[in-house]
Amino acid sequence: MDSIKHAVELARAAEAATTPGTLPNAARQDFRSEMQDSKLREVRLNPDHLEKSRLVGHKSKDDGRYYDMLRTEVLQEMDKKSWQFLSITSPTAACGKSLTACNLALSIARLPERSVLLVDLDLRKPMVANYLGLQDGPGILDVLEGRATLSAATLRASIGPSSIFVLPGSTPSSNSSEWMASQSMGTLLHAIKREFRSCIVIFDLPPILLGDDVISILPRMEATLLVAGVGNTSLADMRESQKHLQRTSVVRVVVNKVTEAPPAYYGYY
Ligand SMILES: Nc1ncnc2c1ncn2[C@@H]1O[C@H](COP(=O)(O)OP(=O)(O)O)[C@@H](O)[C@H]1O
Ligand SMILES: [Mg+2]
Repeated sequence: MDSIKHAVELARAAEAATTPGTLPNAARQDFRSEMQDSKLREVRLNPDHLEKSRLVGHKSKDDGRYYDMLRTEVLQEMDKKSWQFLSITSPTAACGKSLTACNLALSIARLPERSVLLVDLDLRKPMVANYLGLQDGPGILDVLEGRATLSAATLRASIGPSSIFVLPGSTPSSNSSEWMASQSMGTLLHAIKREFRSCIVIFDLPPILLGDDVISILPRMEATLLVAGVGNTSLADMRESQKHLQRTSVVRVVVNKVTEAPPAYYGYY
C-alpha cells in the first residue's frame, strides 16, 4: 500500500460498480470530498515504543508468528464471506483486546496485497494511540461530534516497509453507549466502509459485560474476535457474553495471557 490515494482510488472504483448505500446524498458527498482533497497525516512508529507496549505483530519472528497464524485464520474466514469489518471484544476489561487489535493490524499490514484500518471504538478507555505511541490529535469522538473530518482524524502509521491506517480514540467519553447507538456512528461506519473499501477494518471495542455499548454496535459489525484473558475471564462471563454474541459471527476465540510455554518443536519455542 503506497499511499492513501491508492486506497481511495480503489475504494471509488469498487463503489462505482455497486449500488450506493443508504446515506443521504449530502452526507455521502461530504465524506467523499473530504478524502479526495486531503492527505492523511503520516507518522513513523517507534520500534522501542512498540516493544514496550508488547506489540510484536510487525515482526514475523518471535511472538509475532502467533499473530500471523491468527491473521491467516481470521482472513480466511472473512474472505469466504467477503467481510470487511472485524470487531474485537472480550467479556470483561483488561483481557488484551487492544493489544490483540494492534498486533493483528500490524501483522495484516505485512501482507503485500492487504491493507488495514484500525479504529479505536473503545470510547470509554481508548488505548490504541497510547500503545502505538501516537501523539495527541483529533480522534473518533471529534469526528462523531463534527469537530474534525474523517480524513483529518485518520493517519497512516508506518513501521519498516509496512503501514496501517489508524483512526485513534479521543479523550474518554462517558456517553459511549449513546454514541454507539447514534445515527452519527452509522454515518461514520458507512463512510469508513466506502472510503476504505480495499481495507480490512479492525474495531477495538469495549468489553461486552460493562454496559450496552457492544450490544448496540455488534449488529453493525460483520465478524467478531473474542478475547478471553486467563485470570480476567470466568466461565460465567463467557456464558453471559455468548448470549450477546448471537447477533454476530465469532470467527475466533483467543485465549490470552496464557503463561505456560508451548512444547519445544523443531528446536525453538
Ligand atoms: N498476552 C499478554 N501477555 C502479557 N500481558 C498482556 C497480554 N495481553 C495483554 N496484556 C497486558 O494486559 C493489559 C491489558 O491489555 P489491553 O490490551 O489493554 O486489554 P483490553 O483492551 O482488553 O482492556 C495491558 O497492560 C497489556 O500489556
Ligand atoms: Mg482496550
